[in-house]
Amino acid sequence: MKNIGDIKPFEKKLYLSSPTMHGEELKYMTEAYETNWMSTVGANINTLEEEVAAYVGVKYAVALSCGTAALHLATKLAGEKLYGQARPEVGTLQGHKVFATDMTFDATINPIAYENGEAVFIDTEADTWNMNPDALEKAFDMYPDVKLVVVAHLYGTPAKMDKIKKICDAHGALIIEDAAESLGAEYKLDGAWVQTGSLGNYNCISFNGNKIITGSSGGMFLTDSKEDAEKVRKWSTQSREAAPWYQHEEIGYNYRMSNVIAGVVRGQFPYLGEHIAQKKAIYERYKEGFKGLPIRMNPFDEANSKPNFWLSCALIDEEAMSPMVRGDQDYLYTSEKGKTNPHELLEAIAMLNAEGRPIWKPMHLQPIYRSHKFVTARGNGRGQSNAYISSDSISDVGADIFRRGLCLPSDNKMTPDQQDAVIDVIKRCFE
Ligand SMILES: Cc1ncc(COP(=O)(O)O)c(C=O)c1O
Repeated sequence: MKNIGDIKPFEKKLYLSSPTMHGEELKYMTEAYETNWMSTVGANINTLEEEVAAYVGVKYAVALSCGTAALHLATKLAGEKLYGQARPEVGTLQGHKVFATDMTFDATINPIAYENGEAVFIDTEADTWNMNPDALEKAFDMYPDVKLVVVAHLYGTPAKMDKIKKICDAHGALIIEDAAESLGAEYKLDGAWVQTGSLGNYNCISFNGNKIITGSSGGMFLTDSKEDAEKVRKWSTQSREAAPWYQHEEIGYNYRMSNVIAGVVRGQFPYLGEHIAQKKAIYERYKEGFKGLPIRMNPFDEANSKPNFWLSCALIDEEAMSPMVRGDQDYLYTSEKGKTNPHELLEAIAMLNAEGRPIWKPMHLQPIYRSHKFVTARGNGRGQSNAYISSDSISDVGADIFRRGLCLPSDNKMTPDQQDAVIDVIKRCFE
């Protein structure tokens, strides 16, 4: 690691993105306690569902235990719509491929496997770090029978949903929108601004502890379909039928949100706009602070999207990358004058007692999914290297962003002085 001079670590650890409580959370939690609705039923859940649906611009919201549960039930529902009801021990996507965002958290993808489907990973675009619509088009050329696409909005930046929706419509495919990281982000669709979480056939958000607002945990399924909302609510509460005893026609889950957690989210919800404004200011301060350095912020489509700026990230210019290799669980790099790499930066940030993180490792590179198909804007992304022919440009965009990028401390409680110290250590790493 470089000698980056005397660093005075922050007394209190600066996190990547930690919960920010405001007081009202406790009021609603206490209300749940005092009214004895210490359960998965109660006023907090009902009110929160109404508030979130109205804010996002959908007709129905179903409060669940986490975003992963919302994604699982959305995936199951899509599978059942497309291919019919499955036997209890078989997933609804058995024998079917599903196109999915490649560079994301594995919770986006795993529900496809829970339902016995096969994820086909679609490469990332440099413009938004989300699913590349050209690669999606290529994937439909290669696998025209596919009828389901799972799209995530990475780090709070909307994917190019106009193009993605048009491609899916042309192929009669349904969309599951993973808006876990992007609550409050907006996208211009056909000239009108709409919220992420309202753009798919089945939409999911998360209130995990590190998200833009939190319940400590929690998630939601969002939809305009009364029938779908009722089905997800039924499945999430053990699929009980209208009988005096516990009668079951379908497999059930215990995925409902607790009324105590709903109280926390309810208290947080009025502060969503404030959190977004704070995160945006952090993004802009980094952008300004990096001027003149060979490092760029995570990009977004400025004409058609307003991110929620959940995490500020950065990408080191290729020319300024010092050599770095990664194994499955370790890494090694060399320090070079005028250059750096994500791990050198993360180590320097850690010396400040602050937390950064590598970019999500693309799914097609994950050991568990290494045998799965991967499609880039050029077509098949597997088996494209050749010992005898040199390749001139990068075809695997996700792998490149993973190699050169990092997530920066983005906590909305970070002070300007703390952020300047982070910018300063980053600058020193380029010396
Ligand atoms: C993109 C993405 N999808 C899904 C999830 C899962 O949400 P949860 O943690 O609420 O299950 C997360 C975060 O945790 C996420 O970042």
